[in-house]
Amino acid sequence: MAGDDTEDLPQPFDAKRLEPAKKRKNGDSSGSRDMNRDNRSSAMPSIDELPQPFDAKKLESAKKRQRSTSPSDQPRKLKRPGQRARISNTEAASIRQRQEQRERDAQHAAVTAATLEQRGINDIVRQHYNAVPERGRDWRKTGSRIRGLRVFNNWVKSTLIQKFSPDEDHTPGAHQQGRDMAGAHGHELIVLDIGCGKGGDLGKWQQAPQRVQLYVGLDPADVSIDQAKERYRSMSHRPSGGRGGRGGFRGGRQQHLFDARFFVKDCYGESVGDIDVVRQVGFDPSPMGRSGFDIVSMMFCMHYAFESEEKARMMLQNVSSALKKGGRFIGCIPNSDVIGDRVTKFNERMAAKKSGSAEESGPASDDKEEGEAEETAEWGNELYRVRFPGKTPEDGVFRPPFGWKYSFFLDEAVEEVPEYVVPWEAFRAIAEDYNLEMQYHQSFRDIWEAEKDDYILGPLSERMGVREKGRGPLLVSPEEMEVANFYVAFCFYKV
Ligand SMILES: C[S@@+](CC[C@H](N)C(=O)[O-])C[C@H]1O[C@@H](n2cnc3c(N)ncnc32)[C@H](O)[C@@H]1O
Repeated sequence: MAGDDTEDLPQPFDAKRLEPAKKRKNGDSSGSRDMNRDNRSSAMPSIDELPQPFDAKKLESAKKRQRSTSPSDQPRKLKRPGQRARISNTEAASIRQRQEQRERDAQHAAVTAATLEQRGINDIVRQHYNAVPERGRDWRKTGSRIRGLRVFNNWVKSTLIQKFSPDEDHTPGAHQQGRDMAGAHGHELIVLDIGCGKGGDLGKWQQAPQRVQLYVGLDPADVSIDQAKERYRSMSHRPSGGRGGRGGFRGGRQQHLFDARFFVKDCYGESVGDIDVVRQVGFDPSPMGRSGFDIVSMMFCMHYAFESEEKARMMLQNVSSALKKGGRFIGCIPNSDVIGDRVTKFNERMAAKKSGSAEESGPASDDKEEGEAEETAEWGNELYRVRFPGKTPEDGVFRPPFGWKYSFFLDEAVEEVPEYVVPWEAFRAIAEDYNLEMQYHQSFRDIWEAEKDDYILGPLSERMGVREKGRGPLLVSPEEMEVANFYVAFCFYKV
């Protein structure tokens, strides 16, 4: 407070202040009581401690005493020259110890609170995914209200796998002539699927352009990991004809099922380098790493890492260390451009509303009633809903790039789970710190436009039920397409 500050400065003598100064001296409960107690306990009270006639020089110290009263019941020592000598070394050590203990307690309390908050979010996400029932393939194909969205998302994931899992040949025309599958008949892929969930992409990897030698799936949701293992077991009993991507037609040969391992793991809070098989494949944070995974895939799961910079960096450290030089990092995340646009429009609407109502009924009209909640950015359709709990940036640019929480609801799939914005440009810049260079970034709608007539991906979309046969109409409703376009797909290379 300004008043308190000026009182701390040396003051000219003012007779009117004499009375309050005395009152403070006698009436200040802690200060005067302490002094009396001191007097009683001391064999010979010092002359300083007896009631004194007014001395202008003491005015300041009286004020200071009043301002620093302690809530403690302990007798307080007066802070005057020579007073220190009365605190024994033992007392001083005990005061210091108590202070150190208080500091340790405060630090411990802060760490505990932060851990609880972190565990809270992790547990909500884990429990949510553990609780989503595995309803089986038939239900997903016929009974689901978001069937079109499911098949479309699966087609986009297959597209990423088909485009970026091969050891590519980028020379012109390679793709059309099939030369882009450079390693199709040689090197076999080693794949790390972070946030693998219930193993929904196992079949897509079985159809990859290059044979998969080893697939490692990690996820913190233990029930999901059990379901992924079960799915893998059931694949080993099925003849693997498949729908056929680039690797789907291998001369009618029965494909052998790749080796797969699954582990329960929080890949944003811990290093994945402590998993034996990951270390055996290769886990090297340096850009020199020649061994490691060919592919790290993170489908629809990276946004949980953007809760904090610490988590996002741990996630990137894991990705980069697991990849061999030249390895690819593929995935899908919510589109921060879409989120930014929505948020900007919302904030513009709010500003217009405020200035409109202010013009109508004067400047006080935009005051909120007590208890009335502030409106926050929110949008969606009958299938999905995005809601920010608090303020959002007016220009739609999320700075700093971590911790922008929103809740996401998707019919039949996600129940109001907290997610975090992944501001694309910030993410891309941070990824460079980990030797990950961006190659590809496209919205789901643009991927459809670009790939729907591809000689492999077009027919694949028909077999998967994304569109009707013979380049027929899209079987994804406009509402489903709006949800799909909430996402972008990406590919980075480890350089
Ligand atoms: C929408 S699901 C996607 C599952 C799968 N990738 C797919 O595309 O079907 C998101 C997954 O991210 C996982 N996840 C959340 N936090 C994670 C973390 N810290 N480390 C690894 N995975 C995490 C969840 O458990 C969940 O399985």
